[in-house]
Amino acid sequence: MKIFAYGIRDDEKPSLEDWKSTHPEVEVDYTQELLTPETAKLASGSDSAVVYQQLDYTRETLTALSEVGVTNLSLRNVGTDNIDFEAAKELNFNISNVPVYSPNAIAEHSMIQLSRLLRRTKALDAKIAKHDLRWAPTIGREVRMQTVGVIGTGNIGRVAIKILQGFGAKVVAYDKFPNAEIAAQGLYVDSLDELYAQADAVALFVPGVPENHHMIDASAIAKMKDGVIIMNASRGNLMAIDDIIDGLNSGKISDFGMDVYEEEVGLFNEDWSNKEFPDSKIADLISRENVLVTPHTAFYTTKAVLEMVHQSMDAAVAFANGETPSIAVKY
Ligand code: COI
Repeated sequence: MKIFAYGIRDDEKPSLEDWKSTHPEVEVDYTQELLTPETAKLASGSDSAVVYQQLDYTRETLTALSEVGVTNLSLRNVGTDNIDFEAAKELNFNISNVPVYSPNAIAEHSMIQLSRLLRRTKALDAKIAKHDLRWAPTIGREVRMQTVGVIGTGNIGRVAIKILQGFGAKVVAYDKFPNAEIAAQGLYVDSLDELYAQADAVALFVPGVPENHHMIDASAIAKMKDGVIIMNASRGNLMAIDDIIDGLNSGKISDFGMDVYEEEVGLFNEDWSNKEFPDSKIADLISRENVLVTPHTAFYTTKAVLEMVHQSMDAAVAFANGETPSIAVKY
């Protein structure tokens, strides 16, 4: 059996080598290159391909992969919003993702960023770097004084709720598919409008599926409290970024944390040192003291990377053996 992995980064190699050492019967080959119509041929002769979500897996890419005989595709990440499922179905692809690699990685990052926004650490760090050690005017706010609206109570949202409760915050939650544990705690409100009306800070933990596209737009923002904080480490397409920038300009949004950006492909996970950003909106957002931008790194922890590699490789083996792994995507 042969598995070909695309886009293997240096930090993934130890996890891949570790997996290989426990699966000597599997031939594993990999490249740093991402899966594209041009690189699809590298997987020729393999039983499964393993990838992570950096580019769109278009009809063209999937066709190129199936033409070299590979129709088992295991993602090392959770999001599947980059896959042309219509084409995948026509081409009979088996697809798996890693739905739970480390919910804590993303939940912790979101809540750390939310706390940093409340304590104005970006402004404080900038002052300290200039040797200004005065307190004022960089006064912070406490997490326990906030009502935090958590949108999405899946694995990640639920860890975020636990962290917030540890800090003593009041949590209100919304999910189209309520979770019994969160319902038992009485945290759900009936609608997003109700959540917007109550929340001092809104944190997003929902997938980037089409029905969630630009859910945070001018009309949603207008329903939020004046001076609301918004934190998004889920998917960039959840936010109409122009409306977020308008909200920051008017002061309606007091602080904003973003780990994801709708136009992040080709921008995030690239080195722009000593170069101008090709995107003026990102340049503007990064320059603001009340905005924290991270380049889709909420997931990026040693534990998460290990799980992403190991679980996706296990799924690739299962597909190659004609089995359906428990993490196969049903589509
Ligand atoms: C995901 O798992 O979907 C992420 O957002 C992480 C990244 C490797 C794409």
